[in-house]
Amino acid sequence: MRDIAVGVLGVGKYVPDRVLTNQDLERMVDTSDEWIVTRTGIRERRIADPSQATSDLAYEAAVQALKTAGLTGEQIDLILVATVTPDTFFPSTACLLQDRLGARKAAAFDLSAACTGFIYGLSVATGFIKTGMYERVLVVGAECVSRITDYTDRNTCVLFGDGAGAVVLGEVPEGRGFRSFELGADGSGANLLQLRGGGSRLPPSERSVAERAHYLEMNGREVFKFAVRVMGAASEEALAKAGLGKEDIDLLIPHQANIRIIQSALERLNLPEDKCVVNLDRYGNVSSASIPIALAEAVEEGRVHEGDRLLLVGFGGGLTWGASVLIW
Ligand code: ACO
Repeated sequence: MRDIAVGVLGVGKYVPDRVLTNQDLERMVDTSDEWIVTRTGIRERRIADPSQATSDLAYEAAVQALKTAGLTGEQIDLILVATVTPDTFFPSTACLLQDRLGARKAAAFDLSAACTGFIYGLSVATGFIKTGMYERVLVVGAECVSRITDYTDRNTCVLFGDGAGAVVLGEVPEGRGFRSFELGADGSGANLLQLRGGGSRLPPSERSVAERAHYLEMNGREVFKFAVRVMGAASEEALAKAGLGKEDIDLLIPHQANIRIIQSALERLNLPEDKCVVNLDRYGNVSSASIPIALAEAVEEGRVHEGDRLLLVGFGGGLTWGASVLIW
């Protein structure tokens, strides 16, 4: 079988207009701009309008990705939406997007790997294209994390925001495209980052609402330690699989959870800050949308050039982690 090089044909992003600043949060919970900035690096985040759901954000990002790829919805074979905040359990957000994009030929499904969802999605799409089963796959990371955020809990509400990022994957010239994926999971840490209510374990009820079980819960300290460990380890594994060293990285695109986690990854990889994309100051943690939004902005800003070696790395609930080397 011919080895098909798979890469990015187009990229797009969308963030809602409404800005929630640290000063706004100071009026909602017992926190301070100073605490949030020094402990996380976050200054503001975007919040979806009440009229918007995740598929609406996904749609805007997808339209832009299709446009930059020079494709229409009808030319897409598969739509994959990574999200922990789907419009509904079912139908999938991917199906809603498929309809709005007029992607009549496309199969569609959602993928659940929390903040690592986009990297998992890229690997699934790459696999489908390499086997020859599909030619062009739209991969979207889209979230309305504000809808599952408890704005009375200062431990979590300062961290998250809403947005979407999208890429179209397809065949690229030899020598370019995805060179490696390193994916992992450790379900023994499931309770460190979770949304307990609403599923088959704890269906919606007066009790689940009273327990605030429909909001995200997190053990920040433990997730922090885990994140620092896996960001470095997954990055090194992905580089080794691609036959590259740390010194070969042109641009690091990490999950945007906490500036201190990103700094520890930079130290481990011996990278200067200007080789890393950071936008968490403006958007906070947008879960599966963080990495594609950062990628789209890096492209928009002219920070990505043909032949550049990008390292994408993320972690999240599950627990899950993933890293990938991409030659642009
Ligand atoms: N404002 C003021 N004080 C606060 C706030 C706040 N917003 N939040 C917590 N504190 C307090 C705590 O109550 C604690 O007080 P105590 O010592 O009296 O108990 C103190 O600040 C220090 O708390 P720590 O948890 O030690 O603070 P830390 O430096 O670890 O920072 C943080 C907390 C920012 C949550 C950090 O642990 C972190 O970033 N963890 C990783 C989070 C993450 O990456 N999540 C990814 C989610 S990915 C996904 O799949 C959704």
